[in-house]
Amino acid sequence: MNGIALKPGQVDVSHGPILYLEDVSVSFDGFKALNNLSLYIDAGELRCLIGPNGAGKTTLMDVITGKTRPDTGSVFFGQTIDLLQMDEPAIAQAGICRKFQKPSVFDMLSVFENLELALATDKGAWATLFAKLNGAQRDRIEQVLETIGLVELRSQPAGILSHGQKQWLEIGMLLMQEPKVMLVDEPIAGMTHQEVERTAELLLSLQGERSIVVVEHDMEFVRSIAKHVTVLHEGSVLTEGSMDEVQNDPRVIQVYLGD
Ligand SMILES: Nc1ncnc2c1ncn2[C@@H]1O[C@H](COP(=O)(O)OP(=O)(O)O)[C@@H](O)[C@H]1O
Ligand SMILES: [Mg+2]
Repeated sequence: MNGIALKPGQVDVSHGPILYLEDVSVSFDGFKALNNLSLYIDAGELRCLIGPNGAGKTTLMDVITGKTRPDTGSVFFGQTIDLLQMDEPAIAQAGICRKFQKPSVFDMLSVFENLELALATDKGAWATLFAKLNGAQRDRIEQVLETIGLVELRSQPAGILSHGQKQWLEIGMLLMQEPKVMLVDEPIAGMTHQEVERTAELLLSLQGERSIVVVEHDMEFVRSIAKHVTVLHEGSVLTEGSMDEVQNDPRVIQVYLGD
């Protein structure tokens, strides 16, 4: 591509986007959950995805991560990596990771150990915990502790963390793998107001270095983080733009009032 040789594991974002979805359709028993959807996510951007229930947001994430195969369309990671040729583990390995709503940290292990576990290789979790960390791994954990704001709680069992802190720890566990794209489904559900603000800061701090796609219902939260918002409706992109543009679009108002 353009004469630039890519090393294995590198993603070609020389044209801007890191994710290309084109004319993607997914049917469930004849019902189109995604309907000719096209979407481009730029390298380093923080994109918010909104839309009424059933719009196709979760299905879209399932397609990107390889959980669901589209009937038609193409899905590329950078210019050259065809995600439809890869299975779920290979896609995760390539650098696209997903944060589900329910935190799945290990309560009995410390915050630090949870991050350590996220380094787990095919040797398995216990082998990872008992192996000695090398300097780079230790530095990486320190860096992630800093990013997620849990430096002071590093030695505490994760079980004592608040709901919000557990969510940040899980984001930290994903960050340990240095993903290039992070998909985040409803990150602030169940959080206190203060935790919501802290989560906004955290997500904002991650953009640039990686691309973040956030699905969220809370419009105030979306407004606080998003430069660029995509509205899904009936499996397609209804409109895209700034939060103000999107919120004043009569079609968007119609869709939300009709919901
Ligand atoms: N596995 C499935 N089988 C049948 N229908 C499904 C399945 N997954 C999703 N759907 C349907 O596809 C539509 C889009 O769902 P979804 O992607 O979960 O929407 P959202 O996340 O925006 O609420 C919904 O009408 C839903 O009922
Ligand atoms: Mg959903």
